[in-house]
Amino acid sequence: MQFSDRLGRFEDEIFAALNEKKLELEAQGRTLYNMSVGTPDFETPLHIRTALAEAAMDPENWKYALRDLPELLDAVCAYYERRFGVSITPDMVCSCYGTQEGMGHVGMALVNEGDTILLPSPCYPVFIAGAKMAGAEPWYYPMTADTEFLPDVSTIPADVAERAKFMVVSLPANPMGSVGNDKVYNELIAFANEHDILLLHDNAYSDIIFDGVKGGSFLQYDGAVDVGAEFFSLSKSFDVTGARMSFLIGRPDVVAAFRKLRSQIDFGMFLPIQKAAIAALEGPTDMVEEQCRQYQARRDALCRGLRSIGWDLPDSKGSMFVWAPLPASYGSNDSMQFCLDLIERAGVITTPGVSFGPLGEGYTRFALVLPPEEIEQAVQSIADSGILK
Ligand SMILES: Cc1ncc(COP(=O)(O)O)c(C=O)c1O
Repeated sequence: MQFSDRLGRFEDEIFAALNEKKLELEAQGRTLYNMSVGTPDFETPLHIRTALAEAAMDPENWKYALRDLPELLDAVCAYYERRFGVSITPDMVCSCYGTQEGMGHVGMALVNEGDTILLPSPCYPVFIAGAKMAGAEPWYYPMTADTEFLPDVSTIPADVAERAKFMVVSLPANPMGSVGNDKVYNELIAFANEHDILLLHDNAYSDIIFDGVKGGSFLQYDGAVDVGAEFFSLSKSFDVTGARMSFLIGRPDVVAAFRKLRSQIDFGMFLPIQKAAIAALEGPTDMVEEQCRQYQARRDALCRGLRSIGWDLPDSKGSMFVWAPLPASYGSNDSMQFCLDLIERAGVITTPGVSFGPLGEGYTRFALVLPPEEIEQAVQSIADSGILK
């Protein structure tokens, strides 16, 4: 049978060769430093696990949820007020099974086949997958060294801006580690107003920002709630990646459209997970701050370490990633080959830049998922391998 044309829009797994190499080296008993996937290695706080376990013992909680519990929506609203100083109401919030799922589906609620949408490049891959799912035509705006890895609306031609329906912005950025600032957000909001474009902000890393900068919400800015919405995931702040807890928050008509789409295919978030999300939102946040300090120590170990062995790269400013240009001996299209060589020669596993869209080539991404001591060993292994020469 010939499967759908839609399926044909997606590329085959490009990581097969990397996975094969990893398995081969593991079988040989080689020491590997896996810094490729952004899954936090920190433990989920006890109060969140307890809330889930207790709720799971109540048979009533195993029924279809059918909706977001009012107390969950209230907990999100109270959190936004406390953490970001943003006042929202429950009609401005809809849960989803992680931002991955939300971004994957939201385009289907917002645009028609063939509509233009604006995506960053490089970017987190589900932005591209979501565009394909909706049949939208992505136009990639650069977030490269030339724009200091930030969105610059002046790079978007007027005719593209006129036809674009929505724009995805995600700061702190995966994979680039850049963070937003007032100027960038105010320019984006003015641009969205001028061209009648909806802004979708992905706020996955508001709690992982370095050097004393405090992360925020896009909705803090004047006029933001009139032009858009943001995905707010609990995954990375609270180390609950497997539980799939995220929310679309913002302009009520956008959230209602998203809710209508999701209600066709979903009967609601598992109630024990809703209870665990409430526990996360209402509980202590000291470990979130401590974790940020630990990510910064890892960032320092990696960026300083790599510079000390001759790999010239800037400090990441936020997120759990470091975006490293390929060493000069590699060409600008060699990120996959470089990653294969880096595993083989140094036992260090990173993600090739090519997997983050058209402008990701020429770079590789390190995820800060090992403690500083192991990162130092990984850096030493890279130095010993001679790959930088
Ligand atoms: C920018 C960005 N958005 C979303 C996600 C996924 O979040 P969730 O676990 O809520 O699906 C990630 C995970 O790495 C990410 O880097």
